Amino acid sequence: MSCLGIIGGTGLSDLPELVAYGEHEVSTPYGAPSGPLLEGRLGEAAVFFLHRHGGPATIPPHRINYRANIWAMQSLGASDVVGINAVGGIGAAMHPGRLVIPDQIIDYTWGREHSFDDGRDGRLLHIDFTEPYDRELRLALLAAAETEQIDCERAGVHGVMQGPRLETAAEVRKLARDGCDLVGMTGMPEAALARELGLSYAAVCMVVNPAAGLGDVPLSQAAMHQILNREAAVVGRLLQTLVAARFTGAD
Ligand code: HPA
Repeated sequence: MSCLGIIGGTGLSDLPELVAYGEHEVSTPYGAPSGPLLEGRLGEAAVFFLHRHGGPATIPPHRINYRANIWAMQSLGASDVVGINAVGGIGAAMHPGRLVIPDQIIDYTWGREHSFDDGRDGRLLHIDFTEPYDRELRLALLAAAETEQIDCERAGVHGVMQGPRLETAAEVRKLARDGCDLVGMTGMPEAALARELGLSYAAVCMVVNPAAGLGDVPLSQAAMHQILNREAAVVGRLLQTLVAARFTGAD
């Protein structure tokens, strides 16, 4: 039986469509997750929901306990995880308000606990990360978007920076040369940790600003939040349709 876990990011502190009926305080071998995991119904199926930055949102990207969050999801029975990320847009099509189902990652983060493998259990773990997002889950998200007539980018390279500051214009030019379409701060190591535990993982990125140096007005958190508030409702609809198509009934 497959079960969806949702890790919400900035601007997605809850899902209006989620009817919560339980809360799990999970303790893990890696410390505490960002907060209690909510259990509830999204349409016809039970899902788990966790706010990556905590509630209220106070945990910065480099302080998130990604290992505990992913471990907690699996321990409650999630087989699949969708991570929601607010990002800056780099590619020409990645304008504010755009939803993107990325297909690739470049990881620029450092100093984060990025593996469950601490080398102590007598084996070395080298996961295949050629395709960092689960193909089937991505396709299911794209199919849900089509059902809901939600216009979104079907692929994109997600560059994950350390934060918590935004980038310099030169850094964004370098990311563009590297082939990044999007820039965020929380996509890694979440995706790799999910792969290490055998969870199917995909992301939904919400572009909330042109990346540094690409817009004609200074970056402002207020403007980002305005877009997030609008897009969160669309993401809720997308996830509800995903759940109806893939996570309802026995399989
Ligand atoms: N850069 C990094 N992370 C972000 C951005 C950005 O421009 N916008 C939202 N999250």
